[in-house]
Amino acid sequence: MASGREQWSSRSGFVLAAVGSAVGLGNMWRFSYLTAENGGAAFVILYLLVTLIVAVPVLLAEVVIGRGSQQSPIRALAHYGGRAWRPVGFVFVAAGVTILAYYGVIAGWTVRYAGMALFGGFDSGIADRFDDIAQGADAFGFHLLFMGVTIGIVAGGVTKGIERTAMVLMPVLFVIVSGLAVYAATLDGAAAGYAYYLSADFSQILSLEVLTEASGQAFFSLSLGMGCMLTFGSYLGRDTHLPRETALIAAADVGVAFVAGLVVFPLIFALGLSDKVGGSTVGALFITLPQAFAEMGPIGRGVGLLFFASLVVGALTSAISLLEVVVSTAIDGFGWERRRAALTAGAAITALGIPAAWSLGVLDVMDQVANNLFLLGGGLALSIFVGWRMEDPIGEAKVGAAGVTWFPMWRNLLRYVVPVVLAFVLYDAVPKTLSAVWGLFVGE
Ligand code: PFF
Repeated sequence: MASGREQWSSRSGFVLAAVGSAVGLGNMWRFSYLTAENGGAAFVILYLLVTLIVAVPVLLAEVVIGRGSQQSPIRALAHYGGRAWRPVGFVFVAAGVTILAYYGVIAGWTVRYAGMALFGGFDSGIADRFDDIAQGADAFGFHLLFMGVTIGIVAGGVTKGIERTAMVLMPVLFVIVSGLAVYAATLDGAAAGYAYYLSADFSQILSLEVLTEASGQAFFSLSLGMGCMLTFGSYLGRDTHLPRETALIAAADVGVAFVAGLVVFPLIFALGLSDKVGGSTVGALFITLPQAFAEMGPIGRGVGLLFFASLVVGALTSAISLLEVVVSTAIDGFGWERRRAALTAGAAITALGIPAAWSLGVLDVMDQVANNLFLLGGGLALSIFVGWRMEDPIGEAKVGAAGVTWFPMWRNLLRYVVPVVLAFVLYDAVPKTLSAVWGLFVGE
C-alpha cells in the first residue's frame, strides 16, 4: 500500500467531498431539462430506478476499488486486473479531461450570471444575447477565471484543499437550494410548475432513447464511469463503511436534483415562460430563468444571485473532483508534486476548453461524447471488471461493513444486470453520438 498517501481527515469530509463531486450542473442544468422533455414524473421514476439498480452498484464498485488499491484509476485497475486493464484507466483520465474542458466553460457562464445579478441585475433582453454570452472571448475569460480557482484548490491538497472547500460550501448550497424551493412555493405559478414537473406521462418513457438519457444522466450526476469516485475512495481508510457512505452520497445527489426542480419549474411558470423551456439543452437554465429574474425586479435580482451562486458552488466542487482524477494520476504515475500536477493538468484542460468556449455546437458534442461514450462505456467496463475479473470484491467491500448481507446481490447486479442494461443503452447511444461528432466536422 502506498505509504504517505493523503487521507480524508474525517468521514464527513469524504462524504461531503463526494457529494460535492456529484452535486453540480448535472443536478440543476441537465436534470431539469431532461425531466421537462421526457415525461415529467415518469422520467423521474425511471431515473430513480436506473440510479438504484445500475448506478449505485457502480458507485460502490468504484469506492471499493479505490479504497482497496489506494491508487489512482490506471494503477488501481492494474492492481486488481493486471496490465491489460490499464487502457481502461487511460480512457477514464481522458473522460475527466474532456468533461472538465467544457464543464469549465458552462461553469464560467454561471459565474458571469452570478456577477450580473450582483453588479447590475438581469435585463429582459438576456435571451437574445445568450449566444454572445455563451461563446467567444468573454466565455473563455470566465472559463479561465473558474479554472484558476479550481486549480488553486486542488493544488492545496486532499484535506486542506478539496475537503475543506466541500465542508464549507456544501452546507451553503443545501441551505440556498432549500430556501429557494420554499420561496418558489409561495409564487403564484407554483402549482402549474409542480403540475408540469410532476405529472407523469408514462408513454414517453417507453423508449430506448429515454432509457439512454436516464442512464447517461445517472452516471453524469453521480460522477461515475471515469474513476472519479474511485479516486476519492483511494483516500479512505479501511474502517469506512462503504455501503452506508454510498447510500448517503446517492441520496444527497438525487435529493438536490429533485429539489432543484422544485425551484426551477415554479419560477418559470410564475412568469408564464413555460413555452420557452424546451428546445435547447441550455434553455431552461441560462435563457428562461434569467429572463424570469429580470421580470421579477429587485427580488429577482436577489433570488437570481442566490440561484446562480448555488450553481457556481455546485460546479466548483464538481470541477475540483474532475481535476483531481487527472492530478492524482500524474502524481502517482510521474511522481510529480501536487502543485506541479495541478498547474500542468489544469492549464492543459483550460486550453482544451477553447473550442467549447467559442462554439455551443462543439460544447454540445463534447457533452454527448463524454456521457454517451465515456461514462456509459466506463460503467460497462467497471461492472465487468468488478463483476467478473476482480477476485474477491465482496471480501474487499466487507471490510468495515461486516454486517451487510446483500453483497452477493450487489455482485450479481454487476455481473448480470448492469452490463446488460448498459450494453443495450450503448447500442442506442454510440451510433447517435458518432453521427453527432461526424456532423460537427462536416456539417458546419
Ligand atoms: N456530477 C457532476 C454534476 O452532476 O454536475 C459532474 C461530474 C463530476 C461528472 C465529476 C463526472 C465526474 F467525474
